[in-house]
Amino acid sequence: MEKKIISVINQKGGVGKTTTVINLAAGLSMKGKKVLVIDLDPQGNATTGLGLSNNISSDRTIYNVLNGNKKIFEVIKQTNFENLDIISSNVDLSGLEVETAGESRRAFKLKDELALILNDSRASYDYIIIDCPPSLSLLTIMALVASEALVVPLQTEFFALEGLTQLMKTIERIKSNLNPSLEIRGILLTMYDKRNKLSGQVEIEARNYFKEKVYLTSVPRNVRLSEAPSHGVPVLLYDKVCPGSKAYFKFTQEFLEQDKKVESAA
Ligand SMILES: Nc1ncnc2c1ncn2[C@@H]1O[C@H](COP(=O)(O)OP(=O)(O)O)[C@@H](O)[C@H]1O
Ligand SMILES: [Mg+2]
Repeated sequence: MEKKIISVINQKGGVGKTTTVINLAAGLSMKGKKVLVIDLDPQGNATTGLGLSNNISSDRTIYNVLNGNKKIFEVIKQTNFENLDIISSNVDLSGLEVETAGESRRAFKLKDELALILNDSRASYDYIIIDCPPSLSLLTIMALVASEALVVPLQTEFFALEGLTQLMKTIERIKSNLNPSLEIRGILLTMYDKRNKLSGQVEIEARNYFKEKVYLTSVPRNVRLSEAPSHGVPVLLYDKVCPGSKAYFKFTQEFLEQDKKVESAA
């Protein structure tokens, strides 16, 4: 069966998680796939990057689902983009860990809520893509428990691989305790600068170590990618032909090919 629930994860901030979520989601939706993005970062960057508000007046957020105040179907919002819905986030989410400290099953809350979506014919999503916060906190654990597969953006800079060791340990721990079928779908090299020798070195090391888990596509450093979010539009729509867009279109294609392979092997 196709893996539908995908987290984009790396406990380091600023490595391209949110940019990848927004543009993978946009790319898939442009291919006719129905996509739900879940913004699981209190910063709400995926929310604003997809044109919605992350101000605190809204109670239709993932926070209110995870604390039990709202049903998940009540908080799904449409974006301005076809086939692309979102459950938004705001800074309220940063209080969840402390507020739910007494609840024993809280790590499963997101998984349980997503099961409601998967089992309901009203919401026929092809993919649910979760934007993780830059930490290994409760929110990230919830994402790891709920996910079927992971996409790990890896910024091609010094120390990038060292940060991955801790993430891999956490993933292994979750696999052996809480979610045995969790798998790493792929590692995406981001902010690649071909004029910088270091980018090439990190790429070689990553491919040596993680082999075919590293996507063939790498995302170049491209200023258009950093401009698009302030317009609330995926770069794929903001500037279709810039190098960043070309890379994310290519990545979307590579991502879809993975499901084709799984289907033909089944
Ligand atoms: N390939 C890229 N080239 C240039 N800027 C990028 C690229 N990817 C992301 N950015 C910018 O870098 C910053 C961090 O990226 P972001 O996707 O928010 O990372 P994270 O979600 O991991 O913290 C943002 O301002 C974003 O617009
Ligand atoms: Mg982010």
